[in-house]
Amino acid sequence: MQSTMNQPPHFRRAAGRPGGAAPDPAQIRCMFGAIARRYDRTNTVLSAGVHHGWRRALVRWSGAAPGMRVLDCATGTGDLALAFRRVVGPAGRVAAVDFCPEMLARAPAKARRQGLDIQFALGDVLALPYGAGCFDMASIAFGIRNVSDPVRGLAEMSRVVRPGGAVLVLEFGQVALPVLRRLFEGCARRLLPRLGGWLTGNRAAYEYLERSRAAMPCGADFVELLRQTGRLEHPEYRALTGGIAYLYRGRVAYP
Ligand SMILES: C[S@@+](CC[C@H](N)C(=O)[O-])C[C@H]1O[C@@H](n2cnc3c(N)ncnc32)[C@H](O)[C@@H]1O
Repeated sequence: MQSTMNQPPHFRRAAGRPGGAAPDPAQIRCMFGAIARRYDRTNTVLSAGVHHGWRRALVRWSGAAPGMRVLDCATGTGDLALAFRRVVGPAGRVAAVDFCPEMLARAPAKARRQGLDIQFALGDVLALPYGAGCFDMASIAFGIRNVSDPVRGLAEMSRVVRPGGAVLVLEFGQVALPVLRRLFEGCARRLLPRLGGWLTGNRAAYEYLERSRAAMPCGADFVELLRQTGRLEHPEYRALTGGIAYLYRGRVAYP
């Protein structure tokens, strides 16, 4: 077990995936299980706290309002679900799923401490345990690049959202300005695995983060994945912090 957890996830061939390679779900689950205890603190150190602002930007851009029903997918330790819960208020509802028990186990205590009620459940983005059209919106933050078939994941998210509702994605991208990109990528390649390894004891997880970040399509290329679901209309995107991260939004088509 230990040896698997400290190996970066293998990529296997996958026809539907950009770049033709997909992370192995069992290894992804195991890798997040191994870093769960230190995940929040490591995020805060590696992003200098900026990651909270990115999630707040997603919630603002989503158009979430009191009374809405929201599903947060690949919720991890639940930060995006908590941010939505504050906005939808007592008349709204937030559910959140993740397939890694160790990550998810940390979320309910956070919600309790903040006096927020969220229905957390173990579940796979590729087979969500909800009926069609149950939610006004579904979100995923830093999760879609870990899903073995991102287009299928986005299509499954759109299945559980009512027509006219939104699917929202927050994901790492590539810095837009070439000079800054070279600088950022050089630092990310050298520092992320070292710092992440030092903070969590699992350097392989942060080597994987850097590799998967660099390989993930972003901007207009990611919008193409939203289109490929055949269910999401009016896709839009916004770069955050110069393109270190991106927000994406698509509207679920009426039948
Ligand atoms: C980088 S963490 C992001 C967690 C959280 N959304 C955040 O913003 O911090 C990625 C999460 O995706 C989850 N994940 C990856 N693939 C998944 C899948 N197919 N179904 C459900 N969860 C998945 C992992 O277990 C992990 O908790």
